[in-house]
Amino acid sequence: MLTLQEKKEIEELLPNYPTRQAAGIDALVILQRHRGWISDETLGEAAEFLKMTPAELDSVATFYNLIFRKPVGRHVILVCDSVSCWVMGYDPVLDYLKKNLGIGFGETTTDGRFTLLPHVCLGACDKAPAIMIDDDLHVELDPAKIDHILSLYS
Ligand code: FES
Repeated sequence: MLTLQEKKEIEELLPNYPTRQAAGIDALVILQRHRGWISDETLGEAAEFLKMTPAELDSVATFYNLIFRKPVGRHVILVCDSVSCWVMGYDPVLDYLKKNLGIGFGETTTDGRFTLLPHVCLGACDKAPAIMIDDDLHVELDPAKIDHILSLYS
């Protein structure tokens, strides 16, 4: 069941949309912020609240790749997987992350701390290579900087 706080936050954004259904993505973003990911149960509750079918809302959720439909770690690392980053050092950064964390794309560390995902251009092409951890953008990366950056997230 959606909490009162979750309902309140969704209700507050509804005036920005022509219909309740149009608020689907932002409603899911709110719920994901509270719950970490969007389970089938959460999706169904959100759909009911927005007067949609679960299938309609799921089609929106699966189109938007920052809605997590499976459990993720406490922190999600998005590795920019686009051309500027490929040219500017993507491979050593990704290799270091994979080796250091012991996971590949789509996987979560055994302690539940990090999930590693690819992402199309993070919008920091002039400062490539880039990753984003939660809402924090980290740019001009090289492997030597990664340990310190990861230490910022417990
Ligand atoms: S290509 Fe990596 S930030 Fe744009």
